Formats: sequence, structure tokens, C-alpha cells
Amino acid sequence: MALADFPRHPLTFGPSPVHPVNRLSDHLGGPRIWMKREDVSSALAFGGNKTRKLEYLVPDALAKGADTLVSIGGVQSNHTRQVAAVAAHLGLQAVLVQERWVDWPDPVNDRVGNILLSRLMGADVRLSPAGFGIGFKSSWKQAISDVEASGGTPYAIPAGASDHPLGGLGFANWAHEVAAQERELGVFFDTIVVCAVTGSTQAGMIAGFADLEQNFGGRPRRVIGIDASAKIDETREQVGRIARNTAEVIGLGRALRDDEVTVLEGWAGDDYGIPVESTDEAMRLTGRLEGVILDPVYEGKSMAGLIDLVTSGAIPRDANVLYAHLGGQPAINAYSGRYH
Ligand SMILES: Cc1ncc(COP(=O)(O)O)c(C=O)c1O
Repeated sequence: MALADFPRHPLTFGPSPVHPVNRLSDHLGGPRIWMKREDVSSALAFGGNKTRKLEYLVPDALAKGADTLVSIGGVQSNHTRQVAAVAAHLGLQAVLVQERWVDWPDPVNDRVGNILLSRLMGADVRLSPAGFGIGFKSSWKQAISDVEASGGTPYAIPAGASDHPLGGLGFANWAHEVAAQERELGVFFDTIVVCAVTGSTQAGMIAGFADLEQNFGGRPRRVIGIDASAKIDETREQVGRIARNTAEVIGLGRALRDDEVTVLEGWAGDDYGIPVESTDEAMRLTGRLEGVILDPVYEGKSMAGLIDLVTSGAIPRDANVLYAHLGGQPAINAYSGRYH
């Protein structure tokens, strides 16, 4: 099957916007930088990268007769908030297990931002004391069997909608969308910079761009993942595995090479969810120069990576860079003590 053969339930306005960030490019003095904006591409609760992934999971959920989406994430998970929004939009229930992924002292951490929005949208939000991890959790299994016990039909969506056979399709489609936008704009993005944690965003892009190159006459390009989980080995393994699975699912017709999976470390700090100085600087610089808001958990860290790669020359001066803005701003409300 090719990517175009998979059913997709549209949850976005259409292709996400692409725009240059000239003041940031000029400030860094190197390549031209553009952004592609998953944060402003949907009517559903501030959008984000999971909305696009869910476009490919929803047809499967509906075909299986599900009436409840069951998912898991941290207390300030953007993913679970998007699951809540998609459930509301489709007239389904949402049960969300919210774990203590971040040891963050903000007194309103479990009351503002994403978790507030999920509650507002009618989700059954369950706080769990478990720590960071993207695997199958007992709390999640419990939530699934609770739905079954009460006569419902659950559809299980793993953390970040990543470790799922269809998890990479949304961003494989993103790659094809980029190619169409490049034709309209008359530009070619040779370098993509993207944040990686649960992995299927970057993995989908890798598979999608490989598909373009292999089967649609596309040119090669670099997809640089910036780890924000502070667990680089796990992130690399997860991105590589999901990329290979997605490539197979969409009929790439060849194995992915190891050099197509690039996930860099150095900007996550010591812990997932805790910003460091470079995160703050990247957030303030992008805010001051562009009026574009980044969050302290994901995009602040990937932008810190982009800034260093440009200033060190690792991304050459003549490059055209596309920064994937994956959303995440609601979580900033849980960091009031740091940004004031
Ligand atoms: C705002 C934001 N950026 C980046 C990511 C990382 O994407 P992925 O989990 O697919 O690696 C996430 C989710 O984990 C996110 O919510």
C-alpha cells in the first residue's frame, strides 16, 4: 500500500502554514530559516503535532466501533489534550492517564494549561504517580479494562500516538505536504529540524522524505532530530524503529539506511520537561525577534539545537532550513515561576 491509500480523517484546516522567519535568520547570520506550523493548523484546542497523527488513527478507531479513546502522557501532555479535543469533535469519550513525568514544583502544574483544557473538553482525566516512560503502563491497561468493564469499546492510543502501526503516517504525509508547498513557493528545504521524544514525528518525516526521493523523484535532504527526552539512546531506537516500520507500511521499497536516522543530543538538559539556559534563550530570542511562542519542554529545546547548529556552521550558510513547529504552548502556563 502507498501512503495515499490509507484512510485519513481530516482534523486540520489543510496544509499547515509555512513562512520565513527573516529576523531570526538575519540575527543568526547564516542560512534562511522557515517554519512550518502545526500549532496553528487546526480548530481543535490549539492543535499540535498529534492532531496530524490522529488523522490516520481515527479511521481505524471508527472502523473498530470504538466509543472511547484511551491514552496516556505526562500531567502537561499536549498529546492527551489533543486526544481529548479529537474525542469531543467526534462525539466520543476520552479517558486520559496523566503521569508524573516531570518533577516540576510549580504549584498549579496539574491545574493549568493542557490538563485544564482536557478537563474543559469533558475528558475523564486520571492522575497517576508513575514517572517518565513511553511504554505500556499498568495504569493505561487499567483504564482500558475499566472502559470495557462498563460496556464501552476502548481504542488505545499510546503516548504521543507513536508506538502504533499507523503512528508514523501523519508525518509521512507532512513530508509530501512540504514537497507540494515547495513547488508553490519555489524553494527547496535541504535541512529539516524537528524535536524528538516519543519519536513518530521525526520517524514519519524520515519515511515520507525517503518515499519522495525513492518513488517521486525527490532530492535528498537532512532531517535532524533534536532529542528533548534526555534519554538519547531510547529516542534514537524509537525513531529508527518507527521510521523503518512506517517505511515498510507505505511501501518504500527499500530498507532505510542508518545515516537517514539522525537524532542529536545536547539540548535536553538532564531531564525531560525541565528547561535549561539554552531553552530559555531560544524561547526569548524567538519571542523577541518573531513574536513566535515556543514551549519549555519541546520546541524551546529543538530551537536551541537549531541556533547552535547554525552558529557553529554545522548547518551551512547556504542552507534552507525548515523548522517544524510542533505546538505545545499551553504547557507554558505551568512554568510561571520561570518566565515572569
Ligand atoms: C509540542 C511538541 N513538540 C514535540 C513533540 C515530540 O514529538 P514526538 O513525541 O512525536 O517525538 C511533542 C510530543 O511529544 C510535542 O507535544
